[in-house]
Amino acid sequence: MNMSDSLTKQSVISQYLPETVTPLGDTIEAVFAPSNIALCKYWGKRNSELNLPINSSLSISLAHLGTQTRLSVSNEDQVWLNGQRVAVEDSFARKVIAFIDLFRGAQGLPVRVDTDNNIPTAAGLASSASGFAALMLAIDRFYGLKLEPSQLSAFARMGSGSASRSLYHGFVEWQMGVRDDGMDSIALPLVTRWNDLRVGLLKVSSDAKAVDSRSGMNRTVATAHLYQSWPLQAAADLARLHQAIAENNFTQLGETAEQNALSMHATMIASWPPLLYWQPDSVAAMHNIWQARAEGIEVYLTMDAGPNIKLLFMADAEAAIQQRFPDMDVIAPFA
Ligand code: DP6
Repeated sequence: MNMSDSLTKQSVISQYLPETVTPLGDTIEAVFAPSNIALCKYWGKRNSELNLPINSSLSISLAHLGTQTRLSVSNEDQVWLNGQRVAVEDSFARKVIAFIDLFRGAQGLPVRVDTDNNIPTAAGLASSASGFAALMLAIDRFYGLKLEPSQLSAFARMGSGSASRSLYHGFVEWQMGVRDDGMDSIALPLVTRWNDLRVGLLKVSSDAKAVDSRSGMNRTVATAHLYQSWPLQAAADLARLHQAIAENNFTQLGETAEQNALSMHATMIASWPPLLYWQPDSVAAMHNIWQARAEGIEVYLTMDAGPNIKLLFMADAEAAIQQRFPDMDVIAPFA
């Protein structure tokens, strides 16, 4: 066993906490974190305990779509999701409480967590990114920890990798870092704003996925020889995305994001047992998008570990694309 294998979330976080962690007051105002969609995907971990990635990634946050979370003093631990109390033994509640334990300690005072997602369930978007980011911000405020932005990002990452990016709006890069303790594996916002950029959310299926992203990426790394090429693809795509953003080149941004997502899916398909998140309707939507492009409408797609599709386009193409996909929800990330 080498040094880095023995690091735990707790051992890393504890170094940045005061001697005693107690609530500053009875409650806080709810804090918000946006959901995000990666244009260059995070796929594969070099350390599963700390969620340290094999590659750097780059995302766009979804403005007002995300999670709002509040913590309050309580006589017992309680977790409320979208106004409904969740049983403490439920896996969602257990994850939330286990994350709070990293800060207050297992013997800490009981808390009530109120968390609300405004992501339309119809959009089929993951809420773990915005969920852990909002929870991290709520913990920081409730216990008056005054953590640095880089620490908030590193600790949110320990809840879920993609949560490291949900601390910010706009374009966000999560730098993989090199340190064993991961304190340089943090997200940073890019200053560039693209007011005309639009993200379309297309629901194909809202069924719970059979294999979540966490197990999907572990299976890919463990079984797909094709995965060997992924870090090279991701590094090249990240550079192309930076260039596209700096030069205001939407074609390059869209092409790169689409190829990156499909390359990630290629590694999933090459895993064993195979991972194919696409449904027939996903493939139909892909063809529809490619047909639109052949007709001169500039639109690109990206997909995560699920059947749903996200479309990338500029404001002037919105009407034509909405006509082809009437059920699509449209987000203006910089509005
Ligand atoms: C395909 O962040 O959900 O959406 O770190 O295990 O919680 P864990 O995984 P998670 O994986 C997201 C994978 C992805 C790509 C991305 O968002 O970059």
